Amino acid sequence: MLNKLIANMLPYMPKKLVWVFSKRYIAGESMEEGLLASKLLNEKGIEVTVDILGEFITRLDEAEKNRDEYLEVIERFTSENVKGNFSIKPTMFGLLLDKEVCYNLLREVVQFAAQKDSFIRIDMEDSQCVDIELDIFRRLRKEFPKHVGLVLQAYLRRTESDLVALNDLNNANYPISFRLCKGIYVEPENIAFKEYEEVRKHFLKDLKYMFENKMYVGIATHDKYLVEESMKMIGEMNIPKNMYEFQMLYGVTPELRQLIVDNGHKMRVYVPFGEKWFNYSTRRLKENPKMAQHIIKALFIR
Ligand code: FDA
Repeated sequence: MLNKLIANMLPYMPKKLVWVFSKRYIAGESMEEGLLASKLLNEKGIEVTVDILGEFITRLDEAEKNRDEYLEVIERFTSENVKGNFSIKPTMFGLLLDKEVCYNLLREVVQFAAQKDSFIRIDMEDSQCVDIELDIFRRLRKEFPKHVGLVLQAYLRRTESDLVALNDLNNANYPISFRLCKGIYVEPENIAFKEYEEVRKHFLKDLKYMFENKMYVGIATHDKYLVEESMKMIGEMNIPKNMYEFQMLYGVTPELRQLIVDNGHKMRVYVPFGEKWFNYSTRRLKENPKMAQHIIKALFIR
């Protein structure tokens, strides 16, 4: 109840106050701050995936600006030898306004990343985006098999069948690359599993399928139980180190993160930055009032 109240009040709070609890999860407003945060993580043996904040645009000219920003960031980060890759939310390239425009802009960015021998991960957004994202991913994967990957959400009822369908894109030379996460958007019961344990069970089922079919997986979770079960699966199935990595969000559970690194597993941290941090923070927090708990902690536990 309190969580929901705080989350609903967020868009009306002063920006400075929202920043107090958002700053832990966002590297900063500028590319320089994103770069610095990424380099500091690299120094700790952690790779990054860099995200420029912005999503669900309402005008197509914003999409072109976002493309330009990504090209600039890819140029800068690769020339500074940052160890990492890039994540993109396709609605910032106009996915819900014009699919072909979105595809063409994304293609330009993936092509540029491929020239730099880098990699673009397509984030998965809410359920209205899934069919279009899968289609765009299929097209890009055919052209750039080494340089583009996708996110799948374990909470979606459709994900198991999507996985089976996507298996036709997989091959030993260029294993398909997924990030597997629980899923962050609030979805109705007929679309997504709602029970905590049910989502965990499907996460592990999807992970097993990915390993059995020799797909590359970014295991994206802060759930200690899932981290431990994934490690068990990796050991039991003898999964080589070049076929998986763990992934976490910037500022979340750094102790668990360190434990995974100390155990010799590859870790990648999702580093978001950009001027759109305010909308991102408030929208996300509104969507997921449970996160208000973390805000309360961030405010009072220093
Ligand atoms: P869960 O929510 O159960 O959290 C487990 C524990 O982690 C909590 O008890 C708490 O201790 C800690 N924790 C989790 N979130 C925290 C926070 N914000 N602050 C402080 N502590 C926190 N989703 C999506 O729909 N599309 C996407 O493309 C992505 N991309 C993505 C990339 C990466 C690298 C990660 C790690 C996650 C995503 N997600 C995502 C988000 C994902 O779907 C999910 O909502 C969150 O990771 C939270 O789920 P957990 O598995 O961490 O479990």
